[in-house]
Amino acid sequence: MAVNKKLGLTALGASLALTLAACGGEGAGSNTNTADADPSDLSIGVSMPTETSERWIADGENVESQLEEAGYTVDLQFAGDDIPTQAQQIDQMIVEGADALIVAAIDGTALSSQLQAAADQGIPVISYDRLIRETENVDFYVSFDNFRVGEAQGTALLTGLGVTDEEGNPTGVTGPFNIELFAGSLDDNNAGFFFDGAMSVIQPYIDNGTLVVKSGQTSIEQAATLRWSQETAQRRMEDLLTSSYNDGSVVNGVLSPYDGISRGIITALQNAGYGPTQDAQPRPMPAITGQDAEIASVKLIADGVQDSTIFKDTRLLAEQAVAAATAYLEEEEPEANDTETYDNGVKVVPAYLLPVETVYQDDIESVLIESEYYTAEEVAAGQSD
Ligand code: GAL
Repeated sequence: MAVNKKLGLTALGASLALTLAACGGEGAGSNTNTADADPSDLSIGVSMPTETSERWIADGENVESQLEEAGYTVDLQFAGDDIPTQAQQIDQMIVEGADALIVAAIDGTALSSQLQAAADQGIPVISYDRLIRETENVDFYVSFDNFRVGEAQGTALLTGLGVTDEEGNPTGVTGPFNIELFAGSLDDNNAGFFFDGAMSVIQPYIDNGTLVVKSGQTSIEQAATLRWSQETAQRRMEDLLTSSYNDGSVVNGVLSPYDGISRGIITALQNAGYGPTQDAQPRPMPAITGQDAEIASVKLIADGVQDSTIFKDTRLLAEQAVAAATAYLEEEEPEANDTETYDNGVKVVPAYLLPVETVYQDDIESVLIESEYYTAEEVAAGQSD
């Protein structure tokens, strides 16, 4: 008998749930009566978007090891940033009897038929860091405060230019400074949150003339970077330099939503003769923001090339994903701390959001090394093990 365990005690009522649970007990993959099952008989499918970015590898490994510590069997797959591959991997997880799914989607709207199949079999689905959109078949969302990430990036850009201090208080420096704007992949729900958050901080300084987007490309559509690709970002930065800075003017700041994009931007700027530090002449490296504290970018920050990144502790995100999966498997509701913000187009998905931290050069030691996210040796080498 198929029992939709997501409904749990809340929707069914305790006595009905108990009656239904008593009818279950078919073991792993049956999606019934998981509360009584031994964790080792339960399997959790973990679908990550790509291995080209260091952060998703860390996410996958953190989720896998924490689930295994809790005794579960784990099927971890990376989809190579290819939407059909991710769909096929999730299909396979369902066929093989997954009892819960944790999914970081490549395209937030592209998994509807897989998620319908999951719902039909009562498999709870946890949306990991990126909200799955346009379906009711997503149960819970674990992420960071994504609008806040954008605000922090906007403030970091202003701080890097000397326009505000790190708290966002104006310093009286009025430029004008030339900036360019980059956004993430439009099929990722987070991209809009990051861009809107950043623009909420930056826009007043564009309006008062302190900042000038010299290319005129100020919409998220113009600034977007499909699949968050480093190469695509490098090409766009090269195009911007050619089209808007061939009159001797220089770029002073670049809003970048993600470290991989920042590295593409940096390569384009270095190829165009921009120097590694703010002291270099005649073209100092602009103030460039980022996100994820990827080790290669942390080294660039240590070396004074990239200005800042936003640290999102993926160990804590993995913990929340594991806690949510465990709750569902124990036929309970996971704890949410936001039940308003994340409307996926069909419903508001309950979420657990984690805080974020801005990392400038001076914060590498206190934020990243003292928390043992990286060792000092890894930062010096620009590589983690
Ligand atoms: C987003 C995520 C960012 C960054 C980006 C590119 O969904 O929130 O932290 O990792 O993807 O991978």
